[in-house]
Amino acid sequence: MTMRLAVFISGRGSNLAALLGAQKNSGYQVVHVISNNAQAQGLEIAHENGVNNSHVLWKERDSGEKHALALLETIQPDLIVLAGFMKVLSAEFVGRFENKIINIHPSLLPLYPGLNTHQRVLDDQQSTHGASVHVVDDQLDHGQVLSQTRINIEANDTAATLSERLIEKEHRLLIKTVQMIASGQLSCDNGWRFEGEPLLKPWVEDT
Ligand code: GRF
Repeated sequence: MTMRLAVFISGRGSNLAALLGAQKNSGYQVVHVISNNAQAQGLEIAHENGVNNSHVLWKERDSGEKHALALLETIQPDLIVLAGFMKVLSAEFVGRFENKIINIHPSLLPLYPGLNTHQRVLDDQQSTHGASVHVVDDQLDHGQVLSQTRINIEANDTAATLSERLIEKEHRLLIKTVQMIASGQLSCDNGWRFEGEPLLKPWVEDT
């Protein structure tokens, strides 16, 4: 059975575009896109791809979440993917979809939650950087990390070059992680499991 995805965005939507580009025969389908930003480029991407999409006013968290919940009741997604969604969800909202919301974040969590991760790894003179897909809880970039991808930081890297190199790997990581959930390779049954065994550390994308 095809896993139905609702994707939450706030902006550019390149992760959304990557998910859409890979969804044929992949075990998942993006059935709805929700944006808190009416100007988000990602809404255009949804529209161009014939995917249902909605702008939800999110000035106040309560009203934003209430509106999103009403939409989700009709959409009935199997999984919610936050892909560049710039809001933190409440414990109540997350509790309704326990282990059913994942987020892509451009750092090797638990290092560098929050914004400007590329500049922050450079400021700290780190030698590696990466991206993580994690389960969403009510704290910023915080729940269990399911999967990661890494890049080496070179001497002449800037925040811009890191961002450019990492985004392609982010896209691959997000697609792969969603596919693994769709196929059951990655599952949540009494804790997260990889091929039936407890997931003790994040699955790592090597390519
Ligand atoms: C990505 O770097 C993602 O990891 C982060 O926000 C950015 C969104 O990019 N959470 P896009 O909107 O998917 O292009």
